[in-house]
Amino acid sequence: MADRVLIFDTTLRDGEQSPGASMNADEKMQIARALERLRVDVIEAGFPSASKGDFASVKAIADEIRDSQICGLARAREADIDGAGEALAGASDPRIHTFIATSDIHLRAKLKMSRDEVQDIAVAAVKRARRYTDNVEFSAEDAGRTDSDFLCRMVEAAIDAGATTINIPDTVGYAIPQEFGDRIRMLRERVPNSDRATFSVHCHNDLGLAVSNSLAAVENGARQVECTVNGLGERAGNAAMEEVVMALRTRADHFGVDTRIETTEIVPTSRLVATVSGFAVQNNKAIVGANAFAHESGIHQDGVLKERETYEIMTAESVGWSRNRMVLGKLSGRNAFRTRLQELGVHLDEQQFEATFERFKALADRKREIFDEDLLALVNDEVTRI
Ligand code: KIV
Ligand code: ZN
Repeated sequence: MADRVLIFDTTLRDGEQSPGASMNADEKMQIARALERLRVDVIEAGFPSASKGDFASVKAIADEIRDSQICGLARAREADIDGAGEALAGASDPRIHTFIATSDIHLRAKLKMSRDEVQDIAVAAVKRARRYTDNVEFSAEDAGRTDSDFLCRMVEAAIDAGATTINIPDTVGYAIPQEFGDRIRMLRERVPNSDRATFSVHCHNDLGLAVSNSLAAVENGARQVECTVNGLGERAGNAAMEEVVMALRTRADHFGVDTRIETTEIVPTSRLVATVSGFAVQNNKAIVGANAFAHESGIHQDGVLKERETYEIMTAESVGWSRNRMVLGKLSGRNAFRTRLQELGVHLDEQQFEATFERFKALADRKREIFDEDLLALVNDEVTRI
């Protein structure tokens, strides 16, 4: 089995489905360029049949980006597939991603179709997509809640029709990790032609389990993960790209597989997506939150200053921060205080240092964070006092 996991970024498609996150063509192009620098394998650039604007931006991205595959989403309908084929014509490696729902609730309440009808439509859609490219992805929407026997049948039929990637979405974020991992393993074991396709997962975050479910799928043979920058996406969002990538990289000892992502581009890309989408990143967000590499307590600061790995499992620099950060506050100790003064070029004798440290602690009791200006004012006071 391949030891590389493909990263399929859907920030521009599912991410844009976050209520309030719609982006214009120019913003989408900026994000596509950032994703190419990040070296994502596949950029899902949009849903060409959704609107003229979406068609135009998928086309513009397909015409320009060269180092990532460009994908367009299409319902299992001729017009959608033809639209995607047309929008992607200029891509260096175009992918058409066609989908239809397979769970009983979607068949009954939404599609009002039988299983046989859905299977026939999926097969026809995949075959039509193959007229445009040999890089065709089929998604069984709501696969997480689909009857296992029927899902096996759908996957087998889609592969026979020419799908090269089979995506198993947990559309409503209902799955839990072990069960979802088992589902991927079951499909790989039971579907007779499963070795002819790459298995992919697309997990939503309704229970906060999108990343865990994606990783469980990788443990069970999935070799593509669909995700978004900052975890943007419909409702509670999708699996966060930065978390999936850094979990695989940091715990390579466990997973034994990696991605080709240029991780130093993670933070700049996250910032761009936050600005463009208007969705700010929470401070305590893993990897890209302002506090992800910030240490406040004296014990932690002392540990990190002595040896970084005491409290850091990856470096801030490896994901694109300029450095980790010691937050000076009431919990900080002498080591962090002295280090920051040295970094600011301040030299105090021991007596001045102790007096300044005492006044720093008193200030920190009144003020949540002590900034460099505060420190310099304290130092100035101390030095001019003598
Ligand atoms: O969540 C989902 O099922 C989707 C599909 C279109 C892959 O976004
Ligand atoms: Zn989705």
